[in-house]
Amino acid sequence: MYYYIKTFGCQMNENDSGLISTLLKSNGYLPCATPDAADIIIVNTCCVRQSAENRALGFIGSLKSLKEARPELIIAVCGCMSQQSDTAEILQKKYRQVGIITGTFATALLPQYIEDYATTGQRIIDIEARYDHKEIGNICPEPNEQQAYRAQVNINFGCNNFCSYCIVPYVRGRERSRDPQEIINQISCLAACGVKEVQLLGQNVNSYGKDMPEAGWDFARLLEQINQITGIERIRYMTSHPRDFNRRLAETIAALPKVCRHFHLPVQSGCDRLLTLMNRGYTTKAYLDKLAMIRQLTPDAAVTSDIIVGFPGETEEDFQQTLGFIQQARFDAVYTFIYSQRSGTKAAEMPHQISAEIKNLRLQQLMAVQNPISLARNEELVGTVQEIMVDGISKNNTVMMSGRTSGNKIVVFPKSEGLKAGDLVKISITAAGTWNLSGAISENIDS
Ligand code: 5AD
Ligand code: SF4
Repeated sequence: MYYYIKTFGCQMNENDSGLISTLLKSNGYLPCATPDAADIIIVNTCCVRQSAENRALGFIGSLKSLKEARPELIIAVCGCMSQQSDTAEILQKKYRQVGIITGTFATALLPQYIEDYATTGQRIIDIEARYDHKEIGNICPEPNEQQAYRAQVNINFGCNNFCSYCIVPYVRGRERSRDPQEIINQISCLAACGVKEVQLLGQNVNSYGKDMPEAGWDFARLLEQINQITGIERIRYMTSHPRDFNRRLAETIAALPKVCRHFHLPVQSGCDRLLTLMNRGYTTKAYLDKLAMIRQLTPDAAVTSDIIVGFPGETEEDFQQTLGFIQQARFDAVYTFIYSQRSGTKAAEMPHQISAEIKNLRLQQLMAVQNPISLARNEELVGTVQEIMVDGISKNNTVMMSGRTSGNKIVVFPKSEGLKAGDLVKISITAAGTWNLSGAISENIDS
């Protein structure tokens, strides 16, 4: 039996899909490259913004004709979108082609559900929030065939923050940390299989360990332990919450050579009034103080952020404050999002929702201010030598290779025969663009 997985959404979902794939393979199923060739199609969905939901629903809709042509086809919808009871109901009523609907708590049960459905033909729906069974992250992933040198590992699940715009706490549940020894064993096992870069995943990695206070673990201690694993050369993590990012963590990161010099610290808004309405738990001043601390402790750090435009009630004055803030913060890059009303969240009920026209305009204005800053930050690296981990042949130009700096910047350089994906190499940076850098293998052996 062949399976095909279509994934929408964030790295957490990408990782879950990888784990589903590992589970299915261990149950004897084989992957295939297109939905047409599959006996089982799994759609792993996202609901963080309406656009993600629309894309997933569009894809699920397009499977109707496949199911009509091949009634034995099994279609399963899992992930964040189906965890919402109103959406699960829509899927149930309007998308008859879907045989299995599971939420984020039942992902590890998918292989069992697929077998049950194949024998009975009875629709299966499981969107119960459970905290008492095997989580999908506890399954040891197979190293990814395309990127055998890089792996993602969940360290905690869920979120307790309830930022007023965000659906995640509703669909991923309360915060729970994985056992530290299990994480360390899993990463050691990945390292033994050739993984060199590990990306630690959690909705809020800084709160790692808070739900098991007697054990005495926090994120800094976990990083220290992972830093000792032989074979692992780089450690990345996402996502940090600025409120929980503290000096102990910044100092730990500064002292650990394998932890990358990249801080993704989503600020969401540069206006204190909106930060309060968003329930973020910090002020712009507190954020800027932490930024200064990071830059003082790790002067070569790249700092990136997320910003939402068009939050309910955002005035022109509020928005101008955000523009002023990003000029002050001088982020290396900003991921910009148009506010999307998510039903069930506090912000969805707030007055003065902003029109699509203004939201789009503000997005353009934000990018127009940030792009020259991103370019200037990248230009500061011209003339330096950066250690990069090779990703492989460049997508856009086959005579070039690309890789990433410790700060997570993409560097393109002429192909070199002896180099392969996962290798570390010193590159002299010769030119900068807004989104990437270019350079050549450094001849300077002292660097
Ligand atoms: N609308 C727009 N952007 C959102 N994000 C989260 N929820 C919403 C929403 N309702 C953004 C935040 C977060 C990123 C992953 O997605 O900026 O950091
Ligand atoms: Fe959503 Fe806020 Fe939790 Fe991030 S910290 S997942 S934005 S609720």
